[in-house]
Amino acid sequence: MTFRELNHAKCKTYLVMCEDRHAAALIDPLRDRIDRYLALLAYFGCRLELIVDTHTHADHRSGAIDLGELTGAPVAMHRRAPAPHVTRHLEGGETLMVGNIALKVLYTPGHTPDSVSLLAGDRVFTGDVLLIHGTGRCDFAGGDAGQGYDSISQKLFTLPENTLVFPAHDYRGHTQSTIGEEKHSNPRVAGRTRAGYIDLMNNLGLPLPDGIQEALQPNQTEIDSTAIAFPTLAQLNQVRQLDPSVLLAEINGAQPPFVLDVREPEEFRGDLGHVPGATLIPLRALTERAHELDAVKDREIVVTCRVGVRSTTAAAILTSLGFDRVSNLKGGMLDWSDAHLPVEH
Ligand SMILES: [Fe+2]
Repeated sequence: MTFRELNHAKCKTYLVMCEDRHAAALIDPLRDRIDRYLALLAYFGCRLELIVDTHTHADHRSGAIDLGELTGAPVAMHRRAPAPHVTRHLEGGETLMVGNIALKVLYTPGHTPDSVSLLAGDRVFTGDVLLIHGTGRCDFAGGDAGQGYDSISQKLFTLPENTLVFPAHDYRGHTQSTIGEEKHSNPRVAGRTRAGYIDLMNNLGLPLPDGIQEALQPNQTEIDSTAIAFPTLAQLNQVRQLDPSVLLAEINGAQPPFVLDVREPEEFRGDLGHVPGATLIPLRALTERAHELDAVKDREIVVTCRVGVRSTTAAAILTSLGFDRVSNLKGGMLDWSDAHLPVEH
């Protein structure tokens, strides 16, 4: 196995190559460096066989979409990833192969609901869940400090202590650590209880990353920030969230809501199916087609997508266009289908 970090910057991109099979994987590629990655792969004579984002990034545009389109390599992310360009949805416990190299997927939510770590032999790629002498923040984009503590203490810290740790970010010039070192001296986690960790992480008082919406929204939706007017975080936070069981009761009630699905057509007809009777208008076309909803403006509108992220954006857009009875199906079609509620295909 050949292994290297390619950016030498705060955002880390890892190349994993199997020389025997001329196969390579890129972990957390940056959009503004894809030319360099492709040149390097050509130099090594390796095919890109796998692209993985460890989670939906909020601080930079992912290169996964463009690299997937250019090379045809599958884009793998956890099944809770919101974006439509993911061609391989991962679950914890499964193994990805890159030539002869096995990457074992560990589901490690906390920093985001879609965070995974990848274990490759003597090393683990921890995304932003476990950093070197730090941990990824849990205060936006669905983060949850308690989940983060569980992921770190129950999944990562149960790996052998000499396992090398390679995170997705480092702000202080570190390049690697070990599970043992983090377990014993990580200032956020070592010796801290779960409750203590939650208290610490919920009171860090950090400013939001620069340009968060310009990175997060395109990474979540696959839509360029110049193509539609994305809502502000404050507008997103105001969207009413509806539990699947509540929507089901409303559908079966006297005044069923209008269900709007904002995924891509392939997803609407895909494995997860859609809520019976739902109408499809993909998010990217919502602003220009919103007039089609004028006839239902007085009804309750419930917006849905894969995991409830794109539909929260859609609900905020509709609210800003004067629709005042809009809510979001919490957890999207993934939670709906996991709860075995009725679907159409
Ligand atoms: Fe992150």
